[in-house]
Amino acid sequence: MFDSTPIANPAAKPAFYLELDQQLASLIEGEPDAIANAANMSALLYHAMPELNWAGFYFLPEGTDVLVVGPFQGKPACVRIPIGKGVCGTAVAKRETILVPDVHAFPGHIACDAASQSELVVPLIRDGRVLGVLDLDSPRAGRFDADDQIGIERLVARYVANLPA
Ligand code: SME
Repeated sequence: MFDSTPIANPAAKPAFYLELDQQLASLIEGEPDAIANAANMSALLYHAMPELNWAGFYFLPEGTDVLVVGPFQGKPACVRIPIGKGVCGTAVAKRETILVPDVHAFPGHIACDAASQSELVVPLIRDGRVLGVLDLDSPRAGRFDADDQIGIERLVARYVANLPA
């Protein structure tokens, strides 16, 4: 059984993310299945991070231009998001993390869960190809800051590096 120890002080973000990264490592190292690892990573983030209402993946099947929802925690979500649409599709088009403090101020934001007020989307990029995104939603505006971005980008890098060749 995986021991998902509550992280002592979620307000101390750099230390929080270092510990979360160690928990992710112990969950996925040695396991090559991308879906299994995405499922466990979603559950880890959803339960460890305060103030989230959705945490999960959208994948971009090779040769397509539409993201498809993958493993997640939270309410049922939009299944398909074209590249360039919403926060997720924009992160793919720009090939960069998108931090949205107020989703109502983001043109084209796709409201899957009306509770979402802020969002952090990190693309999964390997060898120059975008494989999908990790999407985190919060019911609090301004929930995510630069420390969250750095911490989550490190976790996403671990997820991508762990994928089989
Ligand atoms: N808000 C996202 C859609 C996905 S859900 O939040 C789970 C977007 O604008 O791309």
